Amino acid sequence: MTTLFSTVQMGSLTLGNRMAMAPMTRNRAPGGTPTPLMAEYYQQRASAGLIITEGAQISEQGVGYPATPGIYNEEQIAGWKAVTDAVHAKGGHIFVQLWHCGRVSHPDFHQGEAPVAPSAIQPEGQAFTYEGLKDFITPRALELEEIDGIIEQYRHAAACAVQAGFDGVEIHSANGYLLDQFLRDGSNSRTDAYGGSIENRARLLLEVTTAVCNEIGADKVGVRISPINAFNDMQDSDPQALFNHVATALSALKPAFLHVVEVSMTGATDSSVDMQQIKQHFDGLYIANGGYDKKRGNTVIADDDADIVAYGIPYLANPDLPERFMQDAALNDADQATFYGGDEHGYTDYPILETI
Ligand code: PHB
Repeated sequence: MTTLFSTVQMGSLTLGNRMAMAPMTRNRAPGGTPTPLMAEYYQQRASAGLIITEGAQISEQGVGYPATPGIYNEEQIAGWKAVTDAVHAKGGHIFVQLWHCGRVSHPDFHQGEAPVAPSAIQPEGQAFTYEGLKDFITPRALELEEIDGIIEQYRHAAACAVQAGFDGVEIHSANGYLLDQFLRDGSNSRTDAYGGSIENRARLLLEVTTAVCNEIGADKVGVRISPINAFNDMQDSDPQALFNHVATALSALKPAFLHVVEVSMTGATDSSVDMQQIKQHFDGLYIANGGYDKKRGNTVIADDDADIVAYGIPYLANPDLPERFMQDAALNDADQATFYGGDEHGYTDYPILETI
């Protein structure tokens, strides 16, 4: 029987288990450059079958939070190289998540200029800035002529990721950030080729994925979506049809995986989307994420409802999560106060099981 502890082939990589570490923003990269402490954090978690890093902005334009890392310049590549070397030294595999925040950024990160988005629609909610929480503002709609430049930012970041020693990249098209803003009609009211129909709203994601696959090889590329996540004021009139189309169209590009946030981060319950339909439309590995424990993880794997399960907060607090699951050991509790920003406390000081 296939379990969380079974190996799985992802392109040329053999993952040691089916427990991925989900991407989590930790805000510990001052100035956007990854630090040696980050290398230690990821190395501690190298027994994950696959680590997907926290979101890394693909350009200065993509920044939306304090002290998040980038993956677009030489200094950042050097910082990440220490991270990938540390993970590889422990036999782990690591993909970097390519991130552009779009409208949920703030002028404070862009010399007073408005953040960019598919359309000038102000989201409800607040941005985390260096001066604390500030209301989201009305973004500037990208001109049609700027779209190629956005695709180029993703391609360039993917090339930087390979230079930094990553095994691959995950294109962040979830959780209300730029690519998700294009996908869903609550944030995209464009009247050109990138808005309107489902095909048009999915166009940017498909062009970005094509460019990234051409740059580094499709077997090194994954895509993350979040069909029902209302976080960052997201909504869509027909998410099942939208994400079935996204899965079908992505399939044709043969990326390694589709990573699906199956819940809403707002805690809202929404049964309008059957995730299994999306899985059936996608011809590649399906990574399930959102509130899984060991039992539910093993069940979806055994039932072939997912190929891999991504765990977020459990990995944050338990560097040796696969070992703990294997032994049915107790888990450390996560400390919310140290999730975003700070030092090694609540970052690299979660204990591992005593070695016998
Ligand atoms: C967050 O910082 O709250 C955050 C970042 C990226 C996500 C989701 C949440 O995809």
